[in-house]
This record gives sequence, structure tokens and C-alpha cells, in this order.
Amino acid sequence: MTIEPDPELAQLYADFETEHLNPLWTQLGDLMSMVPMSKAVPFVWKWSTLYPLAQRAGDLVPVGRGGERRAIALANPGLGGVPYVTPTLWAAIQYLGPKETAPEHRHAQNAFRFVVEGEGVWTVVNGDPVAMRRGDFLLTPGWNFHGHHNETDRPMAWLDGLDIPFVHYTDTGFFEFGSNGVTDESTPDISRSERLWAHPGLRPLVGLDRQTSSPIACYRWDHTDRALDEQLALEDEGHAATPEPGHAAVRYTNPTTGGDVMPTIRAEFHRLRAGAHTRARRDVGSTVFQVFEGQGRFPAPRHRTRRRQGRHDRRAVLGGVVPGHRLRGRPVRLLRCADHRAPALAPRPHPRRSLTSCDLPPCARAAAPPPSASIPTPPVPSSTATQTCPRSWQILTGRRCPRGHPVCRSTSPAPTTPRSSRARARSCASA
Ligand SMILES: [Fe+2]
Repeated sequence: MTIEPDPELAQLYADFETEHLNPLWTQLGDLMSMVPMSKAVPFVWKWSTLYPLAQRAGDLVPVGRGGERRAIALANPGLGGVPYVTPTLWAAIQYLGPKETAPEHRHAQNAFRFVVEGEGVWTVVNGDPVAMRRGDFLLTPGWNFHGHHNETDRPMAWLDGLDIPFVHYTDTGFFEFGSNGVTDESTPDISRSERLWAHPGLRPLVGLDRQTSSPIACYRWDHTDRALDEQLALEDEGHAATPEPGHAAVRYTNPTTGGDVMPTIRAEFHRLRAGAHTRARRDVGSTVFQVFEGQGRFPAPRHRTRRRQGRHDRRAVLGGVVPGHRLRGRPVRLLRCADHRAPALAPRPHPRRSLTSCDLPPCARAAAPPPSASIPTPPVPSSTATQTCPRSWQILTGRRCPRGHPVCRSTSPAPTTPRSSRARARSCASA
């Protein structure tokens, strides 16, 4: 359908712009898409690349008040340069040199830490020193003072994860400086939090109230490892103990609620036997995987033009929106963190359809009703005005994705940031 220029309509849109108004009918496809259309892309950061860069930062950049932390964020290449690993999660490698101290502060953002290797650092959370050791999963829920100190002559690095984007989007961020050092420099093997709370199935009677975040400061690797070992051993004995053959998994939980450890972040640990692979699963929201040990493959979602497989080395971090993920392993152990709010927001029952537009029929065949002929479409240059898409007033560009589906172009302005090849590859899902 060719759109005739209409001076009155053009003036109407110009007046909208002058008055900072935006008509819904030109934005609907972007505001309320038929399926999630994240700009984030699956991406792998290798520990073998991250760590040397963090070491160089350790040689050149002091840690202290102001910068606060020597943390280097993973910036998803699909997100236009913002330092977010996914639209809702921030992840970074944090590096603390020998005898260094990161000063105390607190913020509204919830944080976790996962120790990939090393030991000798204590994080002090509200005055409670918590030892950080290999494989440990540690929590710093929002608005708790925290600082770190390294008591050894060796540097140490770990993975940090926070809900910084989520807090930013909801305008709920607060920050406060604390002590320039740490308030307790002692180095106990086990924190006061663990002494009170980390006993299986036992809850202290001083802590019967529900708490938003888990009171357990650290989930020790010994416990995680044993739980996964036992699942696989029970599977060998013929008992139903694993989510699927050869795949053991646990979720870190808040003992006061039985739910996730923090209000915005879900965390799990998975182990795959050699040769095992997980079922492909549909999901919403975004996920970060930290490979702890071993190697695995992570086939790309089906909307890729060809099935790419990300091979993870012993210390890779994968971030991004992963709508249909499936893992195949040699023996592999990995941490999974996700924005647990996203599944809570998704409709129930979960839509049993693909989350990528190329797995859907072309836009014109989508379930949305065609626009009423009485609703005027916005004026667009005649060179691009070829057809209107019934789905959302997008413009069919005349191009087709590699699978042969028509490609739409939103009527909203094109992004001004350069797009990576990965971002271009997903254009059929986001256009
Ligand atoms: Fe912090």
C-alpha cells in the first residue's frame, strides 16, 4: 500500500514533536512487541582474556575511595556500549592486589560474588568478615555496608554480579560511603552469618521473620559440590534425583522464604556428566553463565542463520538473552545467574511458542489484527513507504531474513550507535 503525503498529517506529527508527545500507534510494535525482542546478544568472555587485563589494571589503577572497586564490567555488544552484561544484570571481574583493601560502602543494588580461583580475601558485610574461597557463592544484599581486604601476597579475582540495570531503570538507586578501610579486619574461617544460618534444615528461632534476601552470607563450595555429587550418585542408584540424565542442579535459596536468594537475582549451580546434554528450554529474561570447571558447548538459539556453537573453556562467562538454551558437556560445572523477576512477570501459562521472530510466521501472519483503515499511519519518506505491516505499523523493507521471512523496520528512529556483526545477525529478530 503506497502512503500518500498528507500535509495536515505531517503537521500533526510535527506538533506532537514540539509538544513532546508521542502517539501510541507509531510505537506499539516497540513498546509491546509480540514476543520479547531484546537487543542483547549471547556473547562469551574468556577468563583467559579477562584475567590478564584485570592484572594490568591492577598494576596501573589503584583501588580506593572514589573509584571504590577495581571491577571491569562485561558490556554486551548488543546493548550499544552500556556496561551491562544483559539488559537487567551487570557482571564484572573484580581484582584485588596483594594486601589491598577496597573501602566500605553500601548501595541499593543487590550483589553476589562467585570465586573462580584463589583465596585470601575477606569481604566484610555489615561488620561480619566472610572468607572468600574457590567455588564459594557470596551475597551482599542491597543496603549492607561492605568492603574487601586481601590478607595475602597474591592477587585474587572473582566474578561480581549486580542488578544495576534493574535498579537504574526503576530509579531506586541509593549509595553511601562507609569506612575508608573495613570495620573488622579479623580473618575467621567461617562468618557469624554462617554460624547462625548455614545448617541444613535448621532455622534459628531468632530469625523466624521472612527476609527479602537470604541471611546466609556465603554458600560454601563444599556444600554445593556435595549436593551435586549426591544427585548423580542417586541417579546411578536408580533414584529420581536429577532434572535430566547426567545433569545435576541446585538453586541457592533464601532459608526464610524458600525462594531466591535476592529479590532480583536467581542463582543456580549445574553439573553435567561427560556426554550429557540438557533439553532445549524456552525462557524469558536474561542469564549469565560462569563456567567453573570443564568444557561445554552452548548451541545458539534457532533464530541464528546457522547453528553456532559457543565452546566454553574452563573459565568462560556467557551473558545475554538466551531464549532457547541447551547445554552439552564434557564434564562441566557452571554457575547460572538470571534475573528472576523476569519469569515472574511473564504471562502464565508460559507462552509455548518461540521467542524469536524468525521462528514465527512473517509479521503479516502474526496474530495481531490488521490496523483499521480509519487510523492514519505516520508519514514516511516515499522511498521507504512500501507496505505497512499489520502487526505494528512497521514498514516492510522488502528484504528477507536468511530464512526467507520478510524483515520489518520500525517506524521509530534507527539507533545511532554502530551495530556489531552479531547485532546485525539478529536484525531479523529485532527489526
Ligand atoms: Fe559495592
